[in-house]
Amino acid sequence: MWKDESLAGKRVLVTAGADGIGLEITRALVEAGARVAVCDVAGDSLERVVAQLPGVVAIRADVSKENDVEALFQAVDGAFGGLDVLVNNAGVAGPTGGIETLSLTDWERTLAVNITGQFLCARAAVPRLRQGRSPSIVNLSSAAGHLGMPGRSAYSASKWAVVGFTKSLALELGADGIRVNTVLPGAVDGPRIRAVIAAKAESLGKPLEEVTRNYTSQAALQRMVTMRDIANMVRFLCSDQAANVHGQEMVVDGLTQALS
Ligand SMILES: NC(=O)c1ccc[n+]([C@@H]2O[C@H](COP(=O)([O-])OP(=O)(O)OC[C@H]3O[C@@H](n4cnc5c(N)ncnc54)[C@H](O)[C@@H]3O)[C@@H](O)[C@H]2O)c1
Repeated sequence: MWKDESLAGKRVLVTAGADGIGLEITRALVEAGARVAVCDVAGDSLERVVAQLPGVVAIRADVSKENDVEALFQAVDGAFGGLDVLVNNAGVAGPTGGIETLSLTDWERTLAVNITGQFLCARAAVPRLRQGRSPSIVNLSSAAGHLGMPGRSAYSASKWAVVGFTKSLALELGADGIRVNTVLPGAVDGPRIRAVIAAKAESLGKPLEEVTRNYTSQAALQRMVTMRDIANMVRFLCSDQAANVHGQEMVVDGLTQALS
């Protein structure tokens, strides 16, 4: 049996950890013995995660708001007295449509959550991580963070930004022993991707089944990935198994060569 105890007792913050991929990451880390705090904007999801995973600390915060992030890290200090790992998971799908149809509000909101949120959380985390035990940061990007994605330019731009942010932080923080990596999931089976596919089908005027088939056939493995696949990769990156993995783009997408 594969055993790794390096996460036992580690203090981890997972942003948007109350639902979707973030919840699966939280579950995987709890299973590994970590002490996990999650934040989310959705109060009902926070209540559910505490009921499902007793011991998880749930804090309401919008990662794109500076005041919320300050209060979030104070709450984490209060609960754990420090931090060893930050998982910058929060991200929104953003608008679907051609460039001429996008509103500035939707564009700015996408960047505010997907990249400014990671900046605000990393900025608050780094002084704490400097005091932490084998500290690291994992930033969630996307396959759209190394490929173009027609009709999703705001999302793709924000996820390419995550890769540049990760590489820069890795160079900045390496000498302090803080590892920084990014995970690029392909299409992850779940409610969010189904909503994205439905929006795409509507915007293109194509049947839902056809657009769903296009999504799965884009991966060489001919299937979507699972939330557990992403959680496994994040857990690996936070663990001492990845002690010398730093500044990397970990692509978990069944080999996707193009997104449409
Ligand atoms: N689902 C996919 O197919 C997929 C693919 C590639 C990358 N990703 C990335 O993985 C991450 C998680 O995706 P997901 O599909 O689980 O997301 P999701 O849309 O299911 O949302 C998960 C949680 O994020 C919370 N949230 C939204 N905005 C927030 C904010 N401003 N502050 C705090 N919490 C907020 C929501 O309330 C929700 O509970 C995102 O960064 C996403 O871009 C997802």
